[in-house]
Amino acid sequence: MMSTCLSHKAMLEDEVRVSAYRQAILETVRPGDVVVDLGSGSGLLGFFACQAGARRVYAIERDDIIECARQLAAANGFQDRMTFIQSNSASTTLPEKADVIIFDILGHFCIELKVTHFVADARERFLKPGGALVPARAEIFLAPVEAFDAYEKQIGFWNRPIGGLDYSMVGTAAPNYPSVHLIPPQGLLATPLCIEDLDFYAVQGQGRVMLNREVTFVVEREGTLHGLAGWFEAQLSPNVRLSTGPASRPTVWSQTFFPIGEPVPVVEGDVVRARAMAIAIGQVSLEWRVEILSTDGASKGRFKHPSLGRGFLGRQDVVLRMPDFRPELSQGGQIARSILDWCDGEVTLRELTRRLQRQFPEQCPTEEAARRWVRASLRGRVEMVERPGDLLPLEVQETAGSDTLVRIPSHHPQVTSRTVDDGTFVFKPDGSQATLLNGVGGKVWELMDGERSVDEIVSQCAEFYQVDRGQVQEDVLAFVGQLLEQEMIVLNPVGEGQ
Ligand SMILES: C[S@@+](CC[C@H](N)C(=O)[O-])C[C@H]1O[C@@H](n2cnc3c(N)ncnc32)[C@H](O)[C@@H]1O
Repeated sequence: MMSTCLSHKAMLEDEVRVSAYRQAILETVRPGDVVVDLGSGSGLLGFFACQAGARRVYAIERDDIIECARQLAAANGFQDRMTFIQSNSASTTLPEKADVIIFDILGHFCIELKVTHFVADARERFLKPGGALVPARAEIFLAPVEAFDAYEKQIGFWNRPIGGLDYSMVGTAAPNYPSVHLIPPQGLLATPLCIEDLDFYAVQGQGRVMLNREVTFVVEREGTLHGLAGWFEAQLSPNVRLSTGPASRPTVWSQTFFPIGEPVPVVEGDVVRARAMAIAIGQVSLEWRVEILSTDGASKGRFKHPSLGRGFLGRQDVVLRMPDFRPELSQGGQIARSILDWCDGEVTLRELTRRLQRQFPEQCPTEEAARRWVRASLRGRVEMVERPGDLLPLEVQETAGSDTLVRIPSHHPQVTSRTVDDGTFVFKPDGSQATLLNGVGGKVWELMDGERSVDEIVSQCAEFYQVDRGQVQEDVLAFVGQLLEQEMIVLNPVGEGQ
């Protein structure tokens, strides 16, 4: 039984972690307190709570290591004050509320063990009003890094023969996986930025987007960009802060390395735009996007990497499996919707760009910027643009004159169609499955107001198009998923509400 404890050895031998938690717990727990040790592992934090004078410690742990913790409690004389519960905290009930909840379910990148989900749930159900959390908050940091060593281990490795054999195809997938490394402080190419400040007293639980932020770094020295490093700093108690960054004493967490597809040489003044996203669908999936711009604004590279080998916004999954997801158009989505609304066959490309400049001056400051939005918003949504007398495929649009008339086609020659009054329609290619035409999305645009769940949108579309729910469900999910991918829908991170 004691062998289960061996898997926790690295955590137990991390002096920085152990002494920071000990100090914070001694500072927070008062004699007579009731304490919950959430994810108690070998029992360490609960033992500290006993040392601080806790009257009762509920140690909740889902794995078999709890047996080891029980025996260690007896060996250290705490058995009378500790109650061990082998269970997932989310399905545990307790006979009384706690003054303090202590936990270390912090992953290398802080969120990947779903700390926000479990803490939100435990806080709501186990904590007395005014009770304390250890830690109280955690800030997540990112920085662009030069990391020859980490890059070589994770990606370069696959490009060298293994036993004389070619494994290089594995290397193409390798940048899609974050890995854990110690990044030396001199590897930082810019000042780190906080991308998320998790207030554990306020974080929200199940079904939420955990992280979705963009930050912009200005490169401070010449070097090679290999990716991003991520880490966290936790405020364990008012006087105890635990940092896992490259500039701090190494801890069991090291740093998370998010590689990019290929190294990019950078110089002082270059800009690195980085976005990190995380969603919990079963496991936590991460996605990171990096764009590098030179001082004159020219792009030096653009990368998008999902963990788990596919877009974490594995779009339909997000939409399907987040019951409280209420899609709402982002600024880009609102622009795209306006453009589609205006494409009535009467409007010209020139008029479209003028309207955009008037209505969205910040996003469309110039005619060229407005045309970029038109192109991006219509591509894949409009099959034809029309000039009096002839039809042009959309690709021709860029060379077409500004007087080209633009419309969303209200019919398609190959399919049996049924037009509804707003010009969008449902068609049945094989007589069995209804499809919202060519990705225009029809009614769906107007229903994405941040108030309705996807399920409600499906029902209202079915009612509007007078078809069964089953007939529109797949299309609505695919369409919402597509807009998510294109960032036309807002994904609100935890703590910001939805
Ligand atoms: C990082 S370890 C920390 C263990 C111990 N608290 C310590 O500080 O040494 C996290 C532990 O929490 C457990 N755990 C994570 N989420 C849990 C949950 N929702 N319910 C019960 N146990 C959980 C894991 O099985 C693991 O043993």
